[in-house]
Amino acid sequence: MQTADRLKKIPPYLFMTLRNKINDAKKRGVDVISLAIGDPVDPTPQPVIDALCAAAQDPENHRYPTDEEWGMLSFREAVARWYKRRYDVDLNAANEICALIGSKEGCHHFAMAVVNPGDTVLVTDPGYPGYRPGIWFVDATPYDVPLKEENDYLVDFGSIPSDVAKKATAMFLNYPNNPIGAVATRAFLNDLVAFARENDIVLCYDNPYSEVVFGVERLSFLNAPGAKEVGVELNSLSKPYNMTGWRIGMASGNPDIVKAIATSKANTDSGVFNAVQYAGITALDECDADIDRMLELYGRRRDKVIATLKELGWKNEPPKGAFYLWVPVPKGFTSAEFCDFMLEKCAVVIAPGAAYGKNGEGYVRFSLTIGEARLDEALQRMRDNLPKMEFA
Ligand SMILES: Cc1ncc(COP(=O)(O)O)c(C=O)c1O
Repeated sequence: MQTADRLKKIPPYLFMTLRNKINDAKKRGVDVISLAIGDPVDPTPQPVIDALCAAAQDPENHRYPTDEEWGMLSFREAVARWYKRRYDVDLNAANEICALIGSKEGCHHFAMAVVNPGDTVLVTDPGYPGYRPGIWFVDATPYDVPLKEENDYLVDFGSIPSDVAKKATAMFLNYPNNPIGAVATRAFLNDLVAFARENDIVLCYDNPYSEVVFGVERLSFLNAPGAKEVGVELNSLSKPYNMTGWRIGMASGNPDIVKAIATSKANTDSGVFNAVQYAGITALDECDADIDRMLELYGRRRDKVIATLKELGWKNEPPKGAFYLWVPVPKGFTSAEFCDFMLEKCAVVIAPGAAYGKNGEGYVRFSLTIGEARLDEALQRMRDNLPKMEFA
């Protein structure tokens, strides 16, 4: 049976090997705790669940979604209110916002909508693994832009060869960053817009962690003057409202790109279930206090993990954004080997940095989305079973 060549471009999934090892351990009766995946175990706020239940009772909502590919106007208006209230960003609900089935789906449609076969598309290394497949699927080529500690893990635009910058047609970025936890500044966003203008690059600013920041300004890419001329921001209800399973997000910004994304969606899916969009409106309009509680929770968990890592010899500073800790592996380990070591010694699963790009080698990622008691247990196991670590 033939399968498409484009699928062969997708490298073997590093997590798959890890998943097999976890399943083997579970079969042997080992109580494995996973700190590998960024999927909150905490529940969606109750008013959002209630709104879904009410909307699901209305047969009108059992039909194809209203305004299919764009999303309901009332949902888009709620997105516009949210951006105004939380980021002081003005958006026109009529043509600058489109509902998504999560920001991951948006990344794929962005590539479909903007990128031509043979194009070069800039992505960061390390970076979210969801960008490259969309680029490959449209027969374009990703170009890795390294993120380095000495630049606070922000893109160093000056280090991108000028012929590559001129050739590139699009770029994916993500701050607060998965996997690193780095955050953008207003100055960086201004530089980003200038870089995109100079080189005629369309930006996909993937911002699902925009609400997850600690002690720094909450920022949208659309805060930068001129941002709407060069790109779109993808955002999502997944992380701020514990709604990863609901599959709802939004693309906002440049009306031509938003329209192009909507066209790609119109020819692929038929939009987000209306009842989920009604629940989304409740989340966006009524659940600011839930975000505050979520931040308090992640802040507490983050500090606990940092304290344990310090006891064991790490010297990491707490990250300023997202719910991940990106830490170097001790001397003598690759990232995959250290993940194996953690599984073997502590029955704790963490993510290998190499899964996020070649520059991720030498690091591992801890996620803070697990419940308090299990996190405490994982940290106790680390204190009990890991030796004091040494670093190169
Ligand atoms: C950087 C980044 N973009 C997109 C996504 C996908 O989010 P959504 O649930 O909105 O599709 C994730 C999920 O982990 C992510 O880390």
